[in-house]
Amino acid sequence: MNLVKAKNIWKTYGDSIILENLNFSMKEGEFCTLVGPSGCGKTTFLRMLLGVEEPSKGELLFEGEDYPKEPSDERGIVFQRYSTLNHLNVIDNVIIGLEFEKSKFFGKLFGEQKKKAVETADEILKAVGLQDARNKFPHELSGGMKQRLSIAQSLVKKPKLLLLDEPFGALDPGISLDMHELLLDIHSKLNFAVVMVTHDISEAFKLGTRVLVFDKVKVDEKYPNRYGSTIVNDIDSSNKRGRNISL
Ligand SMILES: Nc1ncnc2c1ncn2[C@@H]1O[C@H](COP(=O)(O)OP(=O)(O)OP(=O)(O)O)[C@@H](O)[C@H]1O
Ligand SMILES: [Mg+2]
Repeated sequence: MNLVKAKNIWKTYGDSIILENLNFSMKEGEFCTLVGPSGCGKTTFLRMLLGVEEPSKGELLFEGEDYPKEPSDERGIVFQRYSTLNHLNVIDNVIIGLEFEKSKFFGKLFGEQKKKAVETADEILKAVGLQDARNKFPHELSGGMKQRLSIAQSLVKKPKLLLLDEPFGALDPGISLDMHELLLDIHSKLNFAVVMVTHDISEAFKLGTRVLVFDKVKVDEKYPNRYGSTIVNDIDSSNKRGRNISL
């Protein structure tokens, strides 16, 4: 079964057509990267996949069912800007997601449940290489470390779909390369599906097993919002040496 399926979806804001007639499906564990000009609707599409934005027309399914009305831990998102809470240290920044998941009323866990949450959070911190920074506060972390923490916050809830919106855009080139290795490594171990927006074409081909190109098929010079974007190219980029991933 497809993890996500979009059938002829459209997204409009007022008179502006942002996405039109978009068809897309992806399977569990796939890694799609998404490229396209600024303003073409990439973030809007990610927000629909997260479940916080609905298509104006068309059908969008998650595991064969209509998208739930609320976002859920099955889908996590990481933005270019960090989502860390500055008054909490690294481990507590990861645990807090689990606390709200398991104890919606108190937002706190105690006893055995708390012990389990700490264990799970420590595992994830190890996976993203932050185990030695577990007691530090966000202001003591580098940009790359903060982004690792944002990824850990999403991954701790074991999402089936991880959405990444230009997650490495603000990082120095050397740090982004480390983040590529990290992401490929955790993806091959945990096998969640990824849709990642990037402006960097080489990053798109390096990381993705599929590269989706968003653009408008028709353009009206006088009325730029008359036509929306769609997937104009869906490129198989799975056949790369050195990418140890099985699909
Ligand atoms: N809530 C909203 N209300 C009205 N218009 C919106 C809303 N959200 C996005 N838009 C418009 O939709 C279009 C697509 O925006 P979106 O953020 O999806 O583009 P993008 O491809 O992510 O661009 P970028 O590469 O610059 O991040 C833009 O013209 C934007 O102004
Ligand atoms: Mg965007």
